Amino acid sequence: MENRRNIIMDGDPGIDDAVALCLAAAHPEAFHLLAFTTVTGNQTIDKVTENARRLVEFYGLDIPVAKGSVVPILRKIETASDIHGKNGMGNVELPKPVKPLASENGVLFLYETIKSLPEGEKVTLVPTGPLTNIALLFRVFPEVKERVDEIVLMGGAAFGGNVTPTGEFNIYEDPEAAAIVFDSGLPIVMCGLDATNLCGIDREHTAKLMGENGAVCRAVGQMVQFYLESVVYKDKPYASIHDAVTFMYLLHPEIFKAVKMPVSVDCSENKNRGMTVCDIRDWNYDTEPSTTVLMDADSVKFQEYLVEAVYTLDRRLGK
Ligand code: BDR
Ligand code: CA
Repeated sequence: MENRRNIIMDGDPGIDDAVALCLAAAHPEAFHLLAFTTVTGNQTIDKVTENARRLVEFYGLDIPVAKGSVVPILRKIETASDIHGKNGMGNVELPKPVKPLASENGVLFLYETIKSLPEGEKVTLVPTGPLTNIALLFRVFPEVKERVDEIVLMGGAAFGGNVTPTGEFNIYEDPEAAAIVFDSGLPIVMCGLDATNLCGIDREHTAKLMGENGAVCRAVGQMVQFYLESVVYKDKPYASIHDAVTFMYLLHPEIFKAVKMPVSVDCSENKNRGMTVCDIRDWNYDTEPSTTVLMDADSVKFQEYLVEAVYTLDRRLGK
């Protein structure tokens, strides 16, 4: 088990956050999940926290859930209920959680969890929502950066956006937080839209999942089906499962094209606010950039591995 990575997931479940956690839960040989911290994004903090608690127990994980930031650093919240539903999970109702919330202060909880790692061990942070908690953590407790191995995040894009022509949701929601994280100097893998738009589950596999007896397959199928009926995907053959690209990259880096390049965040009030400015001019920098950007992905392999993981977890839990 010593090859497992210590992982803290920080997200805003969220249909694709929910599927991402399923992928992580299906691979205990690779991931030692330490905690889930929540952040306002796809839905309000109370809703995403409730969802995270339900998901953790539904997937058979014995990890604490802590409630994170209520609002972005400067901006007002803009939830995404049109894509993720009123409850944030495609209106799929999982059983109520039994275990209490571990903490009402996600930032402090992150600090304490990282600080209590065994000597010499580090953690990989996997943010799949706005970067508010991670930015606050680095501002309030900068010393924890020494214990962070890598940040593998979903957010941004080298080309294009999904909220504005150049703004991707997680970065656009809290650009100031994203700027703090990208400027942290830590190794970052940016799983942005260039790759995540290519990574999804198609209508055929979704229908099959929905028709299975296992509760995990059915729940994932129903959530993805909600995505497929949303304004973004209704005319598309598959729904992108953006957040799962983080864990998929850690499991199967060979199915992605990863390019190192400097990334900065537009925090202006102009039309590119929230844009991740990716500098592809590799002749233009002397030192190696700390950020790796995923530029392409093998869609077929992604779907194969992801759907396989849903079945694996379902079989293991026997629900
Ligand atoms: C990101 O935005 C959210 O709606 C999803 O959960 C994902 O993290 C994709 O742009
Ligand atoms: Ca998310």
